[in-house]
Amino acid sequence: MPTPHIEAAPGDIAELVLMPGDPIRAEFIASNWLHSAKLISRVRNMLAFTGIFQGVPVTVMASGMGMPSMGIYCHELFTEYQVGRILRVGSCGSYESSLNPMDLVLATEAWTDSSFAEVYSGVPQQRVRPSTRLNERLYHTSFTMGIELKQCAIHSSDVFYRKDPEYYQRIREREQLQAVEMEAFALFYLAEQLGREAASLLTVSDSLVNHSAIDSHAREQAFLPMIELALKATTS
Ligand code: HPA
Repeated sequence: MPTPHIEAAPGDIAELVLMPGDPIRAEFIASNWLHSAKLISRVRNMLAFTGIFQGVPVTVMASGMGMPSMGIYCHELFTEYQVGRILRVGSCGSYESSLNPMDLVLATEAWTDSSFAEVYSGVPQQRVRPSTRLNERLYHTSFTMGIELKQCAIHSSDVFYRKDPEYYQRIREREQLQAVEMEAFALFYLAEQLGREAASLLTVSDSLVNHSAIDSHAREQAFLPMIELALKATTS
């Protein structure tokens, strides 16, 4: 049965889903890495494709930006399509000088200042961990591929533009966070609540410390090894 936000037929979505934020990225991954990729949902242009990577069925579907969007799609994937594993492949901003644009990050936990958990379950929760098993696979595979992966606790924020430039310094210190993005908490929390597995790989696109950023060409250069790693670690 299609859901309010996904029109794929039952069985069209694989047990493993890769989720970039951007639908164009989903299309790029499907056409460059998957065999026999087929468009299976395009509601609101949140493109989803299913194909084969090294013999294993994989779905690539965009999450959109922010926890409300991620929450809708990953909830429907987990509850209506019996998806077992979702790996977010996105970007993040750096909260510390040792983490630079182009670096590759594995999220070890997500902290949020949002009310997502309380509104979902009635019980407040601000911190959640991804799947230990998926993280171990990702870390081990990065090592065998010779890719440097930085393990970071990340901030999942509801707010991108900020008037107070010092907010990040306060929470970085208080909560021991190294990077910021806008989706991982919702994904990890729903996976935990629903007994599924989730993890997140992120490329650093900008620094809140020294305001450096990478252009779209460099972003693509950092994106390629992240997708190779994501697919190899989850399908082998
Ligand atoms: N803030 C929030 N999300 C992000 C950022 C940022 O600076 N960079 C990439 N994703």
